[in-house]
Amino acid sequence: MKQVLMENLPNTEKKVLIVGNGGREHALAWKIAQSPQVKTVYVAPGNAGTAIDAINVPIASNNKAEIIQFCQQQAIDLVVIGPEDPLVEGMVDDLKAVKIRAFGPSAAAAELEGSKVFCKDLLRNANIPTADYQTFRSADEASRFIKDRYPESGQEVPVVIKADGLAAGKGVIVCSTRGEALDAIHRVAGAKEFGQAGDRLIVEERLTGPEASILAITDGSTIIPLPAAQDHKPAFDGDQGPNTGGMGAYSPTPMVDEEMLAKVERDILVPVVHAMKRARRPFRGVLYAGLMLTAAGPKVLEFNVRFGDPECQPLLMRLQTDLMDLLEAVVDGRLNEVEPPRWDPRPSVCVVMASEGYPDAYAKGRVVSGLERAAEISDVKVFHAGTQLVEGTVQTDGGRVLGVTAVGNSISAAKLQAYRAVKEIRWPGAWCRKDISDKALLRAPPDSLPE
Ligand code: AMP
Ligand code: GLY
Repeated sequence: MKQVLMENLPNTEKKVLIVGNGGREHALAWKIAQSPQVKTVYVAPGNAGTAIDAINVPIASNNKAEIIQFCQQQAIDLVVIGPEDPLVEGMVDDLKAVKIRAFGPSAAAAELEGSKVFCKDLLRNANIPTADYQTFRSADEASRFIKDRYPESGQEVPVVIKADGLAAGKGVIVCSTRGEALDAIHRVAGAKEFGQAGDRLIVEERLTGPEASILAITDGSTIIPLPAAQDHKPAFDGDQGPNTGGMGAYSPTPMVDEEMLAKVERDILVPVVHAMKRARRPFRGVLYAGLMLTAAGPKVLEFNVRFGDPECQPLLMRLQTDLMDLLEAVVDGRLNEVEPPRWDPRPSVCVVMASEGYPDAYAKGRVVSGLERAAEISDVKVFHAGTQLVEGTVQTDGGRVLGVTAVGNSISAAKLQAYRAVKEIRWPGAWCRKDISDKALLRAPPDSLPE
């Protein structure tokens, strides 16, 4: 009989730690827990949803020392870091230094999201399509530039003002008039509304067109683009109101066909990964291109260095491959060896339910009801974001509270199913956009339209 070597047996005992506490991290925990290779999934600090699908560990997502200590005590096989802040602050580097395997870019590579100036300069040098821009070090310099370029006070000024550093998605101000532009410059670099993030600022040409998120998994050499998704950043229906972290997403989006995806891979993803390698900042992890589909082709609005939230939820809902295979192949630099991921051909839609007041101030501690009824609806998964388990009850604990996600035979069927589940869930002040995925219907092929 052939002898089976112990080391050739698949390891079904893996322990994984996910860092973060949003909807993205719940989706990651839920998907990774399905892997036959994984025995235990921990989430630090997690939420009420990850408390059910995984084990929560009371460590803040930026507490590197305690995370390292926990990984060593529990002999964690893989750490997956959800949010951008710990990545930009070098959590992957610190884990690697003590031989703990971590999925995500190094601090040097995460600068692609951590500094918009770094990102724009890299894009410009690599000739990657993006809006024209200028960088400034003070509000005075930037204001002078606007006044020189647009001398008349009533003139239209289609620019976007961006703080260089991380500002929780708030440091980008889209302007139409001179007054708005000067006010935005003051907020970013004068009043320093976003703190040090505004030490440098960018004045950028305003582009127009629909937006799409294209995420790719890369080990720095091989790139696997994921199906395109579309986020809904403004708070209210019809893309009105203030910007949020994202009020819902769906995938795939008919805005991006095979041809455009191939173009984005060729003209944007490949040159960025190459440029990062040349800059001696090899990129490993999730590369997220925020794109505007302009009349002149797709242009980069920004790069993120992690899964999008909420894009991660509809994407992982459709992933049929073992996510661990992809994540570990990235960490080990052998993504070229893995099978291409398989996807459920059915589209998915994620509707974010938010607290009253979000994206401004909101109350916490409201009791959420109806989750059991929502869970009984077929093809639905309710991912938790801002929730907390308090003495057995689920309470609101953030602005974006839940990501109600469904798959269906068409985008409109998935949408209907997601909103069916939304209707079951209640807490005082709960609200959501009612039009998540409707943009797709403008472009959907006739056979996927509702009967
Ligand atoms: P960002 O955080 O860079 O993705 O920007 C947030 C949002 O601002 C984007 O989703 C766009 O809606 C908008 N935005 C950013 N840059 C531009 C631009 N150059 N032109 C028009 N809109 C933009
Ligand atoms: N959905 C936008 C983001 O994750 O930044």
